[in-house]
Amino acid sequence: MNKLQIAVAAGLLTLIPAVAMSAGNAAEGKNKSAVCHACHGPTGQSVQPIYPNLGGQYQDYLAKTLREYRNGTRQNAIMAGFAANLSDDDIDDISAWYASQQGLTEIKDK
Ligand code: HEC
Repeated sequence: MNKLQIAVAAGLLTLIPAVAMSAGNAAEGKNKSAVCHACHGPTGQSVQPIYPNLGGQYQDYLAKTLREYRNGTRQNAIMAGFAANLSDDDIDDISAWYASQQGLTEIKDK
């Protein structure tokens, strides 16, 4: 391998974690999140201030916190019930969907 090939190989290696973290199908997540829309809104802009906005949030944060509701690390009576019904694939897809939506800052900036 010459220096360029080594640099390219090293560059490709750094991409692997990014690809692994983007697991999750946003289109599937849109359908699977139908039950969440009543409180968090279809695009993650919640319908009332007591419900957090999810649109534009980092995907890995959403996935982590949903797993924490599911396993009881993060406790909330409402969310425990909804997270209990989600598989790992559901969580990844729903997180991808909300992460692909606009966040509040972006909307205010327009
Ligand atoms: C009946 C209303 C309601 C529904 C339906 C609902 N949630 Fe929630 N959700 C809440 C409330 C209230 C909180 C804040 C709980 C807390 O303080 O931890 C919350 C918090 C969250 C959080 C954490 C947000 C943050 O900023 O930390 C995520 C992620 C989330 N919900 C995802 C979902 C998903 C995905 C669904 C559908 C499977 C869903 N919720 C359905 C009411 C709801």
